[in-house]
Amino acid sequence: MAGDDPFAEVARLLAERRNAVALTGAGISVESGIPAFRGAQGLWEKYAPMEYATIGAFIRSPEKSWRMLTELLSLCGGATPNAAHTGLAELESMGLLRAVITQNVDRLHQAAGTGKVIEYHGNLEELVCITCWRNFPTRERWKGDGSPPRCDCGEILKPNIVMFGEPIPWTAQERAEEEARSCGVLLVIGTSAQVTPACDIPRLAKKAGAAVVEINPEETRLTGTVTDIHISGAASDVVRGLLRSVSSLQKKND
Ligand code: APR
Repeated sequence: MAGDDPFAEVARLLAERRNAVALTGAGISVESGIPAFRGAQGLWEKYAPMEYATIGAFIRSPEKSWRMLTELLSLCGGATPNAAHTGLAELESMGLLRAVITQNVDRLHQAAGTGKVIEYHGNLEELVCITCWRNFPTRERWKGDGSPPRCDCGEILKPNIVMFGEPIPWTAQERAEEEARSCGVLLVIGTSAQVTPACDIPRLAKKAGAAVVEINPEETRLTGTVTDIHISGAASDVVRGLLRSVSSLQKKND
């Protein structure tokens, strides 16, 4: 589908269809200093997900899960948006991007100024008690000293993120599916597409007629099967390049 210049091709699709949606994963925040989950520097190299990151593991031993959660919170805590996050916010303000569906829990899309963000895996800003269901802002209860935060009832709190084995928040799933079914272009940025049901979103969009554009330095399970155009590179470089192509297309059409 891509011609000689994939950036020009994607810019043309964005401008013509004016109803793109982005699906983002950990790779978009790598240049903000948060390593992706899988791979050499990834959290899952250090903390086996089945031991630390399932809801069952949390219920059995919340103190143990909090070793991994403390590191995740510390990594995300000081991070700021990079050019990929701000570039998506710019595409939204230009009327070319309708929504961002993110698997990330770092809130960097909101920090960059994107208005419509669907948090597929929750976020780290809130803690919830899985015994009495009270919620607390993380900054109120998490001291960052290694001790797990506690509810007033005495139980250890859980970040309001989706751990393995937990369902996707119902409204996020509904909204994401609706966006996927009705978008003209799906930008799939920085996800290895290995985790269900998030990895079904590109297939759903493609089945409904969207062009699927993958932005990732590596190939994934989607590349060559679901993906129509793969632009290989770091998210910030590629999104900057897309913005340049969009603006040169606009100049040509003026
Ligand atoms: N720009 C774009 N993509 C990048 C960059 C970058 N600078 N650096 C790495 N990537 C790509 C990797 O090639 C990889 O394909 O980002 C992807 C990151 O994959 P994962 O670590 O598997 O992250 P993600 O797909 O978001 O994981 C999905 O799994 O562990 C759970 O709940 C967690 O939300 C997470 C989900």
